[in-house]
Amino acid sequence: MEQSKARVTAIGTYVPEHRLTNHELAKMVDTSDEWITQRTGIKERRIAAENEFTSDLAVAAIRNLIERYQKSMDDVDMIIVATTTSDYIFPSVASQVQKKIGMKQTGAIDVNAACGGFGYALHLANGLITSGLHQKILVIGSETMSRSMDYEDRSTCILFGDGAGAFLVERDEHNPSFLSYHLTTEGEGGIHLYRSGTATMMDGVELKPTGHLVQNGREVYRWAVTTVPQGMQKLLEKSSYTLAQVDWFVPHSANKRMIESICEKSGFPLEKTLISLEYCGNTSSASIPLSLDMAVQDGRVKKGDKILIYGFGGGLTQAGLLLEWGVES
Ligand code: UT7
Repeated sequence: MEQSKARVTAIGTYVPEHRLTNHELAKMVDTSDEWITQRTGIKERRIAAENEFTSDLAVAAIRNLIERYQKSMDDVDMIIVATTTSDYIFPSVASQVQKKIGMKQTGAIDVNAACGGFGYALHLANGLITSGLHQKILVIGSETMSRSMDYEDRSTCILFGDGAGAFLVERDEHNPSFLSYHLTTEGEGGIHLYRSGTATMMDGVELKPTGHLVQNGREVYRWAVTTVPQGMQKLLEKSSYTLAQVDWFVPHSANKRMIESICEKSGFPLEKTLISLEYCGNTSSASIPLSLDMAVQDGRVKKGDKILIYGFGGGLTQAGLLLEWGVES
């Protein structure tokens, strides 16, 4: 892999105020706290306010990042937002973020790779900086998944929540953060996890035209627990690192049972795995920065730590990156 010239220099996160607990969900659909906890590990998720949209969550995460970074952000020259729950079909969330933050000298673009989105967006930021085209990029995963939920479908509405996380990626030839990557797409599995748009069919199958997220949970589960451990191995083979040298594993926070199975199959210790699903649910492209930031804030993750992030989901997409944590503690 081309030697990276990009470093992650700051992080910020945001979750909406309102908590939706399992007990409250059990009053809305035929489920129970016991079922949700046993099958997923989720206890509660956050839900955006009526007037709070994906760009607002992204802006709040950036403001949190700015408070902690304490240096000028005037020279940010690109904003990349990973999301599947944009405020509008267009303009992009990134352009709304640019407007609300007031950054004048920047390009802005959205990336749609569902729950793999944050890894894809980070990978693009590394490429743009390493190539010399850009110097300072904001990468944000932001989602209002609650707006894509069918709150009568107990197999999906118990899973997802809202939140946002942001990284600042800057040019740094001496201390690069990006050590390896592994990206995959299996478009033939797209039918297992979708939200319908203008097309009514996929691969000869009629779609549920509800505009809500539709998931074949068992299929996605089976796919993830078999392919993610293989992907982690391929990512490490491309690098000079072994699994034993990885300090923290940050998988997409989809389901605790799945993550336990991925850890068992890959041989990675569960206690060095960071998750956010217990209190945030599955926040799609926001889940990885949310999980990581919890451990940054309580002092577990330190500068220099090797962190394997691994997103997977709709597409079906996967994006794994091995990072050296570059943010000053
Ligand atoms: O972020 C994108 C990637 N997505 C994922 O990674 C999600 C992957 N999949 C999953 O997390 C799990 O498949 C689910 C949590 C969605 C479902 O868990 P499961 O253990 O795979 O359950 P299942 O779909 O096999 O369903 C088992 C039973 C069914 O009842 P029957 O047919 O056995 O009578 C379901 O109807 O559980 C029932 N069920 C529920 N029962 C109570 C499904 N949802 C619920 C519920 N409460 N909320």
